[in-house]
Amino acid sequence: MSKSLPVTFAMTGASGAPYAVRLLELLNQSGVPVQLVVSETGWRLLEEELGIAGEEQLRARTGDWSKVTLYADRDRGATPASGSAPSRGMVICPCSMGTLASIAQGTTRSLIERAADVVLKERRTLILVPRETPYSLIHLQNMTRLTKAGAIILPASPGFYHRPKSTDDLIDFIAGRILAHLGVDASVGPRWQSGEPD
Ligand SMILES: Cc1cc2nc3c(=O)[nH]c(=O)nc-3n(C[C@H](O)[C@H](O)[C@H](O)COP(=O)(O)O)c2cc1C
Repeated sequence: MSKSLPVTFAMTGASGAPYAVRLLELLNQSGVPVQLVVSETGWRLLEEELGIAGEEQLRARTGDWSKVTLYADRDRGATPASGSAPSRGMVICPCSMGTLASIAQGTTRSLIERAADVVLKERRTLILVPRETPYSLIHLQNMTRLTKAGAIILPASPGFYHRPKSTDDLIDFIAGRILAHLGVDASVGPRWQSGEPD
C-alpha cells in the first residue's frame, strides 16, 4: 500500500491512553500521514492517565508532527468524513463502548462516528480497540454487528507468552498488532514464531 495514503486515527474516552500515544509516536516514525481526531472524553483520559493536557503536550510526547493533521471531533464536514477522500483506513484506539455502539448503529453524531461509517461503506480497514471488562450482551452484540460489517475488533488484550518485562512491552504488543493490520511497517511487538499462540 502507498506510504502517502493517510490513516485516520481516533482516540476516544476508554482507558488506554498509553496505547494511543505510543501508536501515534510509531505512526509518526513510519512517515505515514495521520488524520487525528480526539473526542472530548479522549482528551480527558489523556490527561487523567498520562498528564497530557491538550494538543501542545500531545505533540511534545509523540515525535514529528509534520504529517499529522488534527481535526475537531465536532467538525462533521472535515476530510475524514468524505468517502471520496483517499485513506488506508481508520483505527480507534482506545475505543469506548459508547463510540463502538454508535458506529454499530450508524448514528454519525461526531466526526469520529461519521469517519468510521464512511470507512465501512467504502469497504476500507476499520480497527476498533475496545477496553472494557466484563462485556455485556449489548457490547458483544455490537461487536458482532461491526465484525459482520467488516470491522476488526482488536481488544486491548496483550499476551504474556513473549515474557514482557515492562508495561512498555505490553503496550508495544497491542501497537504492533494494530500497525500490522493497517499494513504499516514497524519493528515493534513480539515476532510470531511457529508454535506460539496469536
Ligand atoms: C475516567 C474514565 C474512564 C473511562 N473508561 C472507560 C473504559 O475503559 N471503557 C469504556 O468503554 N468507557 C469508559 N469510560 C466511559 C466513556 O468515556 C463514556 O462512555 C464517554 O461518553 C465516551 O465518549 P467518547 O466515545 O465520545 O469518547 C470512561 C470514562 C471516564 C471518565
